[in-house]
Amino acid sequence: MSGVFDTKKHKKRILTGDTPTGRLHLGHYIGTLENRVKLQHEYETFIILADTHAFAYPKYIDDPVYIAKATIDITIANLAVGLNPESTTFFVESGIPEIYELATFFSMLVSHNRALRNPTIKDEIKMKSLGDSYSLGFIFFPLLQVADIIGVKADLVPVGIDQKPHVEQALEVVSRFNSMYGEVFPVPKALIGRVGKLVGTDGNPKMGKSLNNCVFLNDSEEDLKSKIMNMFTDPARIHASDPGRVEGNPVFIYHDAFNPNKDEILDLKDRYVKGQVGDVEVKTKLFNALNTFLGPIRDRYKYYDERREDVKDILIQGTARTREVVRETLEETKDKMHLLNSL
Ligand code: TRP
Repeated sequence: MSGVFDTKKHKKRILTGDTPTGRLHLGHYIGTLENRVKLQHEYETFIILADTHAFAYPKYIDDPVYIAKATIDITIANLAVGLNPESTTFFVESGIPEIYELATFFSMLVSHNRALRNPTIKDEIKMKSLGDSYSLGFIFFPLLQVADIIGVKADLVPVGIDQKPHVEQALEVVSRFNSMYGEVFPVPKALIGRVGKLVGTDGNPKMGKSLNNCVFLNDSEEDLKSKIMNMFTDPARIHASDPGRVEGNPVFIYHDAFNPNKDEILDLKDRYVKGQVGDVEVKTKLFNALNTFLGPIRDRYKYYDERREDVKDILIQGTARTREVVRETLEETKDKMHLLNSL
């Protein structure tokens, strides 16, 4: 017997992942990676390397070699933060054509206007200056993401806040599909990280490689130091003896997010507002906290970086395994839609 009830046969599932267009940074960690690591044993976890998505961006469409390299790099970053390759299934989107079939069916359940109204899509068009030259595939990619999620019948999708609209789109598709053709899919839920969106080191609410304002998970100690020592703080504060503002101050936002020593943070904040501590001390303590946090991640990154062929094997095996799962979902979907095999 197949159908929605077979979710009871297995642990609940997580599906989430990354588009291989850059390196993972602290914003990714706090938005989603932390939850991936925390929940990897409680849920059966699938991590997608969404290489097809990467081609939606004009900046990368003509650089497939870069996308291929980033696919391995980002897998390594996921392993480096502590995802266990024995229990987590890593897979590459382009290796599962069934996802495209599902996406085609699902696209019929979404109005054209609704697809254009996706706030993250609108945001990316603006932020990446895509003007009106973006591709049809760009507008379609959230549907691909919906198919990624539904393809493995995911229950939970840990993501940063910017990805929430795509998960909501998945939820709408599931509700529509289930009510029109019969219950097949569990309703997926977004899980937003402890900090849904981390500001850049310059205080910009957007963080990005091109903005040169992010700390990457595999930054060297020297790079980390220079990024932290150059962070923006309270622009109104000129001397260490000036009372400073803690709220909205990037250095304190990072302390709150990454420094486990809460007493140290309290003390720093207390002295900061009274004008009794210099930026250098606040930043040095942040550097120390981050360096302690990133040290083991950097080491594991190096370990896997020296074994890129093994990482590739993890992807090949995981893709084969996921393909079986998605194939089954597609069969059920087509049955419900009375397509060829169920005429
Ligand atoms: N669009 C996501 C990003 O760029 C990556 C992604 C693709 C994804 N498919 C997904 C995330 C499915 C969650 C679920 O970060």
